[in-house]
Amino acid sequence: MSDAFHGKVAVVTGGSAGIGRATARKIAEGGGTVYITGRDQGALTAAVADIPGDVIGVRADSRSADDLDRLFAEVGRCSGRLDVLVANTAAIAAAPLGSITEDVIRTVFDVNITGTIMTVQKALPLLADGGAVVLTGSMAAHKASRGQSVYAASKAGVRALARTWALELTPRGIRVNVVSPGPTETPGIAQLAATPEEREAFFTRMGTGTPMTRAGAAEEVAAVIAFVASDAASHVNGADYQVDGGYGQV
Ligand SMILES: NC(=O)c1ccc[n+]([C@@H]2O[C@H](COP(=O)([O-])OP(=O)(O)OC[C@H]3O[C@@H](n4cnc5c(N)ncnc54)[C@H](OP(=O)(O)O)[C@@H]3O)[C@@H](O)[C@H]2O)c1
Repeated sequence: MSDAFHGKVAVVTGGSAGIGRATARKIAEGGGTVYITGRDQGALTAAVADIPGDVIGVRADSRSADDLDRLFAEVGRCSGRLDVLVANTAAIAAAPLGSITEDVIRTVFDVNITGTIMTVQKALPLLADGGAVVLTGSMAAHKASRGQSVYAASKAGVRALARTWALELTPRGIRVNVVSPGPTETPGIAQLAATPEEREAFFTRMGTGTPMTRAGAAEEVAAVIAFVASDAASHVNGADYQVDGGYGQV
């Protein structure tokens, strides 16, 4: 996979941390130019400094149409086209039925559905024929967890978007796929625990539900995203790769 992205231009939204950052690293290692986004400039700058290769940070909130316009204008100005788009940002909010507020619904759907749609739609004019779009889904779309119905519904929506877009973009040879992580150790998940000890216990608990008895690493999800985004997956389209240690499979 070492030169899988040689000469290719990629955008990874939410590329300053977690699965997005590990994905940006894989693409850069494969010789690609990678634009990464996030809302926090400090985290973006740190990620750019940490990932060797041709990595550019663009501060952009996936909920903001103006930010997305600015992102793709910069990609167009500096690179002229886009070969790979990884729409990876998401919002998660736990709320059991009975305590779901409109605010929870709006927060989650603003990023996971509206943000994903606008990200892909605004990238479309730059996306080269034969390119690849990967949406980060979630095993929450396939397997229930208490308190996660709104998030699960949004990720089921992401899976549905990919099916339709795969069909619509076939004439241009653009493949659209989903990669659905199961429980995965990332900073976003880690911050749900208050202390390092709680974090350890939290990840152990997350892993217990999988046949492999451990949570995944961001790099394990990124490896599959990078494969699906590469030409090695040239006949993979409209699919949902579940990277979950068997959590939803057995
Ligand atoms: N980790 C898991 O167990 C797991 C399981 C299933 C699915 N997933 C999915 O995997 C994807 C990545 O999750 P992760 O765990 O790697 O998350 P993470 O560690 O929290 O990283 C999230 C990244 O997205 C950025 N981000 C968040 N909201 C954004 C917004 N509105 N606009 C632009 N950037 C934004 C963050 O930077 P800023 O905060 O600076 O914006 C950061 O770079 C998500 O789609 C998530 O639903 C994760």
